[in-house]
Amino acid sequence: MKHTVALWMIVVVLLALTGFLFINLHKLEAENTTLKEAAPGLGDYMTTIQLHAGKLWFAADAANWELAAYEVGELKETMESAQKLDEEKNGVKISPVLDAVLKTQIAALQEAVKSGSAPKFQQTYDETLAACNSCHAEAGYKFIHIVRPAAPPVTNQRWERDDKAKQP
Ligand code: HEC
Repeated sequence: MKHTVALWMIVVVLLALTGFLFINLHKLEAENTTLKEAAPGLGDYMTTIQLHAGKLWFAADAANWELAAYEVGELKETMESAQKLDEEKNGVKISPVLDAVLKTQIAALQEAVKSGSAPKFQQTYDETLAACNSCHAEAGYKFIHIVRPAAPPVTNQRWERDDKAKQP
């Protein structure tokens, strides 16, 4: 009799504990979903990459290699963040392709910026854009086609170096 009561008490405690854990698990799952929804997605990172690519063009065009180096660095960092998403689009794993582009085209672009040579820069810039577009096509986004920018992406930033600027 004593044993039966003790056993029942254990059962009740265990049931209560299971219920408590279950409720908390659900809470965590809900929080995780909210976090995922709030975090930037691949498309958000791509828009940032596009902005850096645009600024990079005008920095290099103004032979402002210090700013150009900064913009390639930012572009690279954004690609690395996008890599962490481990996305798969239409059967294409995005992260390994990003890794290849980082090690090949972006590395060459960074070297060109370091060298301060405009023709080298333009060549590696075009090769980078080809890599962007080739992944878009591969991953089922052929309609996203990136080109050399015709106008600066923003109008409130100076591209020339300070010592070359006409305005204060
Ligand atoms: C490894 C593959 C890959 C590479 C490399 C890549 N992209 Fe993308 N990009 C994608 C995918 C996939 C999407 C669609 C993402 C989505 O909307 O979920 C995309 C979307 C975009 C978009 C559309 C964003 C929007 O909301 O309008 C732009 C712009 C873009 N990429 C720019 C670039 C630029 C610039 C580069 C190169 C510097 C680049 N991408 C390199 C895979 C890639």
